[in-house]
Amino acid sequence: MYKPLMLAIAMSLGATAWAASPTPGNEPIQPIQPAKVVNASKVELGKQLFFDPRLSKSGFISCNSCHNLSMGGSDNLPTSIGHNWHQGPINSPTVLNSSMNIAQFWDGRAKTLKEQAGGPIANPGEMAFSHELALDVLRSIPQYRGAFKVVYGDDGVKIDDVTDAIAAFEETLVTPHSPFDRWLLGDATAISSTAQEGYQLFKSAGCVACHNGAAVGGGSFQKMGMVEAYATKNKAEGVAGLTGKDADRMMFKVPTLRNVELTYPYFHDGAYWTLEEAVDVMARLQLGRKLSTDEVGQIVAFLKTLTGDQPSFALPILPPSTAQTPRPQPFPVAN
Ligand code: HEC
Ligand code: HEC
Repeated sequence: MYKPLMLAIAMSLGATAWAASPTPGNEPIQPIQPAKVVNASKVELGKQLFFDPRLSKSGFISCNSCHNLSMGGSDNLPTSIGHNWHQGPINSPTVLNSSMNIAQFWDGRAKTLKEQAGGPIANPGEMAFSHELALDVLRSIPQYRGAFKVVYGDDGVKIDDVTDAIAAFEETLVTPHSPFDRWLLGDATAISSTAQEGYQLFKSAGCVACHNGAAVGGGSFQKMGMVEAYATKNKAEGVAGLTGKDADRMMFKVPTLRNVELTYPYFHDGAYWTLEEAVDVMARLQLGRKLSTDEVGQIVAFLKTLTGDQPSFALPILPPSTAQTPRPQPFPVAN
């Protein structure tokens, strides 16, 4: 008699009480596992390529320019700056934990990291190069040829190998051991009681319907503006830009909320700089709910516990160009 009653009380408390401890294996969010490096030489090569601005026409823009690993894998700009100071059309998503995404890009147009990695090099608004020129650069540098030979058994340097190595490096960019993960794994003091209240509210208010799994997002495409339309000057229409279907208008990949404290400004148009604003917008537009200032504060406290160990390694030292290396063109060439 006594035991079931206690259980019932504990369960009813569990729904509302901030002190509820997690039920291992039964939470909508799972801890991030540390990366397992299978091929260290490949990862090292991919790291060099990720940091090498010579894959751009200007010789100035690398993947790290817009996915700065010193800044949560993003550029902290509303939209990115590309070749020739080109104003990018959309906010740069973080590369951290991007291996957990269902697909890449806001509209999911690349299925895998490998498929994604070929895009920016040849994109006129980003690195503005061609794959052929990027390969000419790499082939002109003996140390790169040597590294491709070690990893792929061939020093011909193919674009497929370039994107494969970059993807292998990106797969290591996971952020385990966040305070929230330590709490999930049983360390009751890893996050504050305010953050615990925030997590309960994140679940009970319905945020987890879209932001769940180890990445707390990245697993589905959802409409931005379920209850109320999102007001923006940005022209992106989400998945509809690919399919042309009206039903896909404003359908975007749900962003990961891991390290979200570091990846401001928020949303595909980068229109909101603070988490407080972003949480308020989400609650109103997605759930039709106006949260109090205290409730917003609790959810923000929770979101800040999602910041994990950032990738940490020595900056790669890139092999120097040679006489054969195509020269960078940082400025328009006068005729
Ligand atoms: C000029 C800035 C810029 C450069 C340079 C750049 N990116 Fe991006 N990256 C972006 C933007 C903006 C998006 C989002 C584009 C979209 O969704 O339409 C993006 C998307 C991505 C994504 C998808 C993430 C997600 O959650 O959907 C990955 C992965 C990525 N880039 C990796 C790279 C790699 C690897 C390189 C170098 C080869 C690179 N980027 C170079 C700006 C840049
Ligand atoms: C119906 C699905 C859905 C629900 C419910 C939802 N979100 Fe979102 N969330 C999204 C989508 C889609 C985006 C990206 C929208 C965009 O950029 O236009 C997003 C973006 C965000 C962002 C910005 C992330 C970034 O990097 O730009 C935050 C923060 C966020 N959500 C928090 C929340 C919170 C807190 C709740 C609950 C109050 C919530 N979301 C409920 C789908 C959802």
